[in-house]
Amino acid sequence: MKREKQMEVPTDIILKNQVMSGEIRKINEEFYLENGRRKKYFIETYGCQMNEHDSEKLSGMLLEMGYDEGDDIRNSDLVIYNTCCVRENAELRVFGNLGSLKPLKKKNKDLTIAVCGCMMQQPHIIEQIKKKYSHVDLIFGTYNVHNFPSLLYRSLSEDENMLVEVWDKEMGVIEDLPVNRRYSTKAYVNIVYGCNNFCTYCIVPYTRGRERSRTREAIMEEIKDLAENGAKEITLLGQNVNSYGKTLDEDIDFADLLEAVNMIDGIERIRFMTSHPKDISKKLIDVMARSEKVCHQLHLPVQSGSNEILKKMNRNYSREKYMEMVDYAREKMPDISISTDFIIGFPGETDKDIEDTIDLIKYVQYDSAFTFIYSIRTGTPAAKMEDQIPEKIKHERFEKVLKELNKIVTSKLKNYKDKRVRVLVEGTSAKDENILTGRNEQYVTINFKGDKSLIGKFVNVKITKTKSFSLYGEITE
Ligand code: SAH
Ligand code: SF4
Ligand code: F3S
Repeated sequence: MKREKQMEVPTDIILKNQVMSGEIRKINEEFYLENGRRKKYFIETYGCQMNEHDSEKLSGMLLEMGYDEGDDIRNSDLVIYNTCCVRENAELRVFGNLGSLKPLKKKNKDLTIAVCGCMMQQPHIIEQIKKKYSHVDLIFGTYNVHNFPSLLYRSLSEDENMLVEVWDKEMGVIEDLPVNRRYSTKAYVNIVYGCNNFCTYCIVPYTRGRERSRTREAIMEEIKDLAENGAKEITLLGQNVNSYGKTLDEDIDFADLLEAVNMIDGIERIRFMTSHPKDISKKLIDVMARSEKVCHQLHLPVQSGSNEILKKMNRNYSREKYMEMVDYAREKMPDISISTDFIIGFPGETDKDIEDTIDLIKYVQYDSAFTFIYSIRTGTPAAKMEDQIPEKIKHERFEKVLKELNKIVTSKLKNYKDKRVRVLVEGTSAKDENILTGRNEQYVTINFKGDKSLIGKFVNVKITKTKSFSLYGEITE
């Protein structure tokens, strides 16, 4: 059944932003002529790939406005924090870092500080910023990123202390924003925005709005363009990619889209995230298995191995259904790597629920996993649930689950010893310039010696050493 058709974004809004972008560019050109340097921006991104990708768009707009990308927050003219609120820790980090910008602003009155992203969609956060962080110049949210040039222009030209513009509702899908991608060979492509699932612990449906899919044409066009510009690997993004197409007129689902993307010349690897277990289909797994470019890698967040907890989380699948899909995927693709997310300490969780989770971990034999301690998010149903778990117990259970996971993850990596893998080189290691780092099809990080000129290329690597969470090897060509 088709839902309501997606709203189109009025072209006058897009045009207005193009004009404002041009105005800022003029100002920045004058600045350049006077000072012999271009203004610099610095974006700090928190949270998931959705935010990463929004930051790439902000960055694209800023380059069009005549800014240069800076590499040090201390000598930037514009600082943007693109924030996340999925867990309390994420918020605390933002507040801590915002506080430390105060002395910077004191020293440089011309510094512009902007804050955007998911945190800003919550009114109590805006209140807190107004009260305690008055050095912030501009606040906007996740629904009006495309309006950034207009907002920045107003913030720069008006004497308002703090310009706040946050919309409380999404506005269809905005195409054709400039994008400055962080990696040239590896690109993120949004396919679905928002989320309709309302898992009871999760804030995302409130910060990213209702689900809406981009059209097949828009996605295909973007990927073809990326391929022409040298992209080798693309990751299709959505909070639940498996519900792709539900808001479109065209009769298309995620498996169909994946098959279409697989046909694009130049792209060599296709990944996607996230897959919601309630919507993953055998059809999708079949398409993954037969499409040569689709990586045998699946991130399938289970959250809990207990049916009781899954029900309270409103996840809409059982551990049995989950295990059945894992079995089917492993049967069709024996080399598939499966990763997941867990939440430990959800309200009402018992020791038995944790045993169920550990039992599931042993059954699935995960290749990697992210484990999170449950964090109360204001406004979500779980925040109001009774029997919240005390911090101490949450931490004990977290350690217990982590121990089981680590054992399995490390032992699976050991199997790579002496094997040859094909790696897309992503960059140099943060610790050592002479060490390159990249990933294999299964998304395992692999480190090896090599020349920087190999970045963006595929190489064959023989694994010589396995560590707890990564692999080391030598180029064999
Ligand atoms: N759309 C994705 C998840 C996006 S959020 C999905 O449904 O799988 C990423 C992860 O953060 C979730 O999988 C969950 O494990 C974790 N998470 C979300 N809300 C949380 C909360 N309130 N406390 C702890 N972890 C949370
Ligand atoms: Fe959050 Fe659930 Fe939506 Fe994922 S599917 S973003 S966990 S509400
Ligand atoms: Fe965080 Fe928003 Fe992503 S809350 S996890 S940045 S969608």
